Amino acid sequence: MVNNKRPDSMERITTKALADKFIAEQINEIKAQVGDKKVLLALSGGVDSSVVAALLIKAIGKQLVCVHVNHGLMRKGESEAVIDMFGKELDANLIYVDATDRFLDLLAGVSDPEKKRKIIGAEFINVFADEARKLDDVSYLAQGTIYPDILESFKQAEGKKAVKSHHNVGGLPEDLKFELVEPIKLLFKDEVRVVGEALGLPHAMVYRQPFPGPGLGVRCLGAITRDRLHALREADAILREEFDKNGLAEKVWQYFIAVPDVTSVGVRDNKRYEGWPAIIRAVNTVDAMTATIEEIPYEILHHITDRITHEVEGINRVLLDLTPKPIGTIEWE
Ligand code: XMP
Repeated sequence: MVNNKRPDSMERITTKALADKFIAEQINEIKAQVGDKKVLLALSGGVDSSVVAALLIKAIGKQLVCVHVNHGLMRKGESEAVIDMFGKELDANLIYVDATDRFLDLLAGVSDPEKKRKIIGAEFINVFADEARKLDDVSYLAQGTIYPDILESFKQAEGKKAVKSHHNVGGLPEDLKFELVEPIKLLFKDEVRVVGEALGLPHAMVYRQPFPGPGLGVRCLGAITRDRLHALREADAILREEFDKNGLAEKVWQYFIAVPDVTSVGVRDNKRYEGWPAIIRAVNTVDAMTATIEEIPYEILHHITDRITHEVEGINRVLLDLTPKPIGTIEWE
């Protein structure tokens, strides 16, 4: 636990110079810790795992083995972006696993959100462990643990109960014993972003909005079906594109589409057209414990509605969620 406490004297990393100093120190520490051994990393493409990957690539190059598991619940273009950035641009040792069928088969018919989270979390570990077993002489596991995760585990140790079980990697099976490499575990999120930019990662990746571990799985509400998941992914891509174009992506903390397992009657080409509603959620928050609603200009909302209802098969209405947290949580599940 001693190594998990941020020393009071530790300076907040707010500038490139401070980030460069941190990076240089970490490179030395990582090299000293792992020597010539291999290090494994689950690379989701989120800010934390991306920064850890970039840091380790700088420190040990091809000794780092990144595994990107596509659980079929990623947003549109997300896995491709990971492959482009890490596999191609940074020339990392990257294993890409398309495990879509494994996840979606297990999730078929499961509507309880906590059960869905547990299935996704457990299967993630299974897929990752399968890949780890195929590799020889890996001794270390790198993780994108950050300081708020450590503070959260302190709270849990004190017996405080969470509203939702958040699943990240952890709890690998007994036969896979790795020593941990956690280079950003004493950093707060804003510091991770400064370090990410200093490492040369693209701004869009470093300032990416938070995305839950179970991905679109908790936004395709109730029992997930492939057609509704596809519609959700397409509608979400349109929302993100329009937020980017209209300068909202920088302003809004988290924005996404949720699609419930409900249909309504609509009309298209003079024919009855049943479809699901796409629900827009756009919130601002500091710590995700409470959240307020971002007011989106009606003109933009009309345009998004128009695009989603015309371009996405299966969606015939667009709704706007105006509920703050509390009483609504940010995600619908
Ligand atoms: P809620 O819905 O609890 O969300 O208000 C607060 C923040 O946490 C994210 N979230 C998750 N993150 N695994 C994650 O890694 C999860 O299971 C999960 N559920 C919610 C949510 O996107 C928001 O940023």
